[in-house]
Amino acid sequence: MSLEYFSKVYREIIPNFDDFLESIHRPHPSHLRVNTLKTTDDRVREALSRYGASLEPLPLRHCYLFSGLDNPGATLEYYLGYYHMQGLSSALPPLVLAPQEGDRVLDLCAAPGSKTTQMAAMMNNTGLIVANELNRRRLSILKFHLERLGVTNTVVTSFQAQNFPMKRADRSNLYFDRVLLDAPCSGEGRFRTVMRKDEREKMQPHSEEYSLKMSEYQKQMILRGFDLLKEGGTMVYSTCTYSPHENETVVDYLLQCRRDAVVLPFEIQGIRTAQGLTRYRSQRFSEDLKNTVRIYPHMVDSWGFYIALIMKASRPH
Ligand SMILES: C[S@@+](CC[C@H](N)C(=O)[O-])C[C@H]1O[C@@H](n2cnc3c(N)ncnc32)[C@H](O)[C@@H]1O
Repeated sequence: MSLEYFSKVYREIIPNFDDFLESIHRPHPSHLRVNTLKTTDDRVREALSRYGASLEPLPLRHCYLFSGLDNPGATLEYYLGYYHMQGLSSALPPLVLAPQEGDRVLDLCAAPGSKTTQMAAMMNNTGLIVANELNRRRLSILKFHLERLGVTNTVVTSFQAQNFPMKRADRSNLYFDRVLLDAPCSGEGRFRTVMRKDEREKMQPHSEEYSLKMSEYQKQMILRGFDLLKEGGTMVYSTCTYSPHENETVVDYLLQCRRDAVVLPFEIQGIRTAQGLTRYRSQRFSEDLKNTVRIYPHMVDSWGFYIALIMKASRPH
């Protein structure tokens, strides 16, 4: 991935493109989420101040910008599960899905577990979350965070998301109230010119061919996630990339394949967003894709993201 690539491909679709370019020259700020399953915002603020750290509230509940803490993953409070490092944009998809206490939730691509553990906290450890992850190494990181953060309403599975079982052991159909598909993607939204070494290592070398290949997997996954929803249930499809091939194209494909899929509008209080695209080069998408949301680093000073909220209508419309 390079700045030249962004300029060549995305100048026409990203609003205020020069501000966007300027924003990705700055390092990503440090954000954390207080784990309300174990503690309170005040206790975390007080505990971290003893290390010389200060916390400033972000527009999302229990989420903070912090500074003055060089090794946030090495404090006693971190190991006790009082907080989790999570970029602001990464905390948005669960807020849009809004799981309720007692819900049955499927998190199809769950590791390392930032959104699973956030949803468990939103549900106050009630109901059930099935946290699925294909990659065995990442599965153990997911389990580590579930345990560290005191999550008790979650079971872990390891299927290909696109082939997640549709039946229970007794052959009855398996349905969920809510599905989160935080899909594997090309990760363009995490690109900054100033990155930590471990972040840089995760960046895939980018090409449009890669996005087109990911798009094919994502189309299979979104269909499976939707088919696992009960009538009236809701799904969030999210990625941390800008590529329309991996965003609008995938949601548009779902709309073409499933007549009972409806893209719902939503707002996130305090967060500036841009509308999803209805056209890209020669492609035309459903007008309903205006209801989906693009998150850009120059609007939120966090990762770039794409979020779609989809409902399974009671009857085909
Ligand atoms: C964007 S990350 C998920 C981040 C996670 N939701 C969080 O908030 O911490 C996508 C995950 O999907 C996993 N993955 C890739 N292909 C998959 C597949 N076919 N089925 C299930 N998981 C897959 C990757 O290993 C990766 O952990």
